[in-house]
Amino acid sequence: MSLAQRPLWEREELRAVAGETLRPGGFTLTDRAAERIGLVPGQRVLDVGAGLGATVARLRSRYGVRAWGVEPSADQLSRADGQPGLVRGCGDRLPFRSGTFDALFCECVLSLFDDRPRGLAEFYRVLKPGGFLVLSDLCASGPLAGSGASCADRAAPLDETARLVRDGGFTIDVLEDHSAHLRDLAARLAWTGEGASCGCGRGLGYFLMIAQKQGAD
Ligand SMILES: C[S@@+](CC[C@H](N)C(=O)[O-])C[C@H]1O[C@@H](n2cnc3c(N)ncnc32)[C@H](O)[C@@H]1O
Repeated sequence: MSLAQRPLWEREELRAVAGETLRPGGFTLTDRAAERIGLVPGQRVLDVGAGLGATVARLRSRYGVRAWGVEPSADQLSRADGQPGLVRGCGDRLPFRSGTFDALFCECVLSLFDDRPRGLAEFYRVLKPGGFLVLSDLCASGPLAGSGASCADRAAPLDETARLVRDGGFTIDVLEDHSAHLRDLAARLAWTGEGASCGCGRGLGYFLMIAQKQGAD
């Protein structure tokens, strides 16, 4: 794949402005969710679409949890530079047993899934009953924005994502608009000529959702 064809999250322009977290808001929404769900040391947490492993490292160091990350891109994993807990895999076929995790984070990734209901079914499977799903992602103001490789091209309307999450067996506890983080990242990317790649001027927003798997042990 040529450099020009690379998705935004594999390009230096994004890393230069966003750092190790390849998403709007950096750790702000990660920490907001971790505190809201009350992560405690020793719990098992999975980050799907872990990128460079920043969230896995953050959850381990700040909350004392046992955290793993799943990431399909060899490029991302090679740049993660041997960080512990990262395994190669796809979010819709997770290499973990059912009922393993107390919480699952999926930050700026779900919109990239070809089959989001299947991905959500995998999230449900690997979570323990009562486990938390933390989703942050782009959302579109209308029907799917497109079918290209970038998050901005594939963002879905928020009510559609919420319906899929509920249909997947979760109850939604928190649903918040954090579009200001997207505007901030787009503004910083604009200096590199990449503002449009993350939704600048395309009517997109950014949300945080916290949902809980239903069912008893
Ligand atoms: C915008 S980046 C976000 C990375 C990381 N969550 C972060 O916020 O720093 C999107 C990531 O999702 C990964 N990805 C794409 N399709 C995926 C899939 N089907 N399952 C899991 N991860 C996927 C990409 O390789 C990329 O690392």
